[in-house]
Amino acid sequence: MLESYLNCESAEHVAWHRLNAAPVSAHWSIEDEPEAALHRIHAYPAKFPAFLTRRALAYAAEQDMPVGTLGDVFCGCGTVAHEARRAGLAFWGCDINPVAILIAKAKSSPLRGSRLRLLAEQVLAGLENAQAPAHAPEVEAFLLHWHSTEQLENLGRLLTSIQTVTPSRSPYRTALLCAFSSILRSCSYWKTWSTKPRVDPAKSPRAVNLAFRVACARLARAYEEATWQEAGPAPRLHLADVRTVPVPKQRPDLLVCSGPYATSVDYAELHQLSGAWLGHFDEFARLRRASIGTPLVGAKLRDRHAQLNRVGLQVVFSLYPRDPAAASAIANYFVDMQQVAARCLEFLAPRGIGVFVIGNARLRGQVIDNAAHFTEALLEAGFTRVRVVRRQIRNKATSPFRDSLGRLQRDPSEHRQYDQEFVLIAHRP
Ligand SMILES: C[S@@+](CC[C@H](N)C(=O)[O-])C[C@H]1O[C@@H](n2cnc3c(N)ncnc32)[C@H](O)[C@@H]1O
Repeated sequence: MLESYLNCESAEHVAWHRLNAAPVSAHWSIEDEPEAALHRIHAYPAKFPAFLTRRALAYAAEQDMPVGTLGDVFCGCGTVAHEARRAGLAFWGCDINPVAILIAKAKSSPLRGSRLRLLAEQVLAGLENAQAPAHAPEVEAFLLHWHSTEQLENLGRLLTSIQTVTPSRSPYRTALLCAFSSILRSCSYWKTWSTKPRVDPAKSPRAVNLAFRVACARLARAYEEATWQEAGPAPRLHLADVRTVPVPKQRPDLLVCSGPYATSVDYAELHQLSGAWLGHFDEFARLRRASIGTPLVGAKLRDRHAQLNRVGLQVVFSLYPRDPAAASAIANYFVDMQQVAARCLEFLAPRGIGVFVIGNARLRGQVIDNAAHFTEALLEAGFTRVRVVRRQIRNKATSPFRDSLGRLQRDPSEHRQYDQEFVLIAHRP
């Protein structure tokens, strides 16, 4: 059945709030099959549902657009990369966060569960003779903020043993490191369920060896259950900033992406513990500054407002009297996302299609119309037509609750947001 969409064909006509006239679609809201277990091997904030990739592929087929290569410029934990590999398609994607790329690589490698189990046993058997690595003093101080001395020692030995048992470029090492990263928060004083890095001194962290054994068993089962297309090419996953990554040689026919939200999730901060263990401690400040949507205010509003599109100007200057700092952060986010729209046009093959999943936010009681802003940005960048549909959010991996500043909260008494989001389907000439 062909879905109905709101059609936007000119940047001048994308008024703030107009997208609320887009139909709500069951087709884009309800999943048709349970997600593969590999999608759940590592927590990742704002992971989107895997079935959206299949919906995007079905849309491209309806448009008689053959898809050889799928792409995702914010590939996160590799939801689209995994689905591409499963479907036997080539994949190109990037993310600025090294932990995201680690998980995405693990999820899109067709490994043998039995081999992984064997290697995990060898890792555990090697613990006795393994030596914990020596950390630089600032890294050690950071890690001791999260772990007891004993846990630091046990995790260090585990890391050494993984590196001893597997060769450096082996996809099995990537998978074992992903299992290692997945247990770090539960093996630390990181407050359970907290979406911010908060210490809970009353917490009893899990025992390292047991947690690793359980994570590996789950991972091995997930590989065994996964259904892969025999000839699917290995995905090309780049640890890079979407604004500067080189244009791929083989350009994607279809991009399926969900960008970061403005000011709500600090991905760099959320993965700082894994980053420190995996050798990325020194990159943290740079990573945080370069992550789009970071709550940190970057360039000053007076240096950026001239670059904002129409919706951007409306939103930013309505917010400004209530909260100049937030208005400045939103302006930075909008200008970055305008650049992303232009880059997506550059990346796509001729006649290519970009499917963008994007939600609005609320800050200081005001709607931040990210969807209208990005639609205008896509049309300004040179996409000829953007079709819009709304989707109901279910099973979102992150909390649907926000505080008055739009930050994620676990507390259900806070304002509930994002029970709907937008799917923007942009056509390249
Ligand atoms: C909403 S998440 C994407 C989730 C992904 N669709 C998934 O299912 O895992 C947004 C991603 O954008 C990434 N990101 C933020 N700024 C970036 C930049 N400048 N370049 C590339 N990726 C960036 C974040 O690291 C995060 O993984």
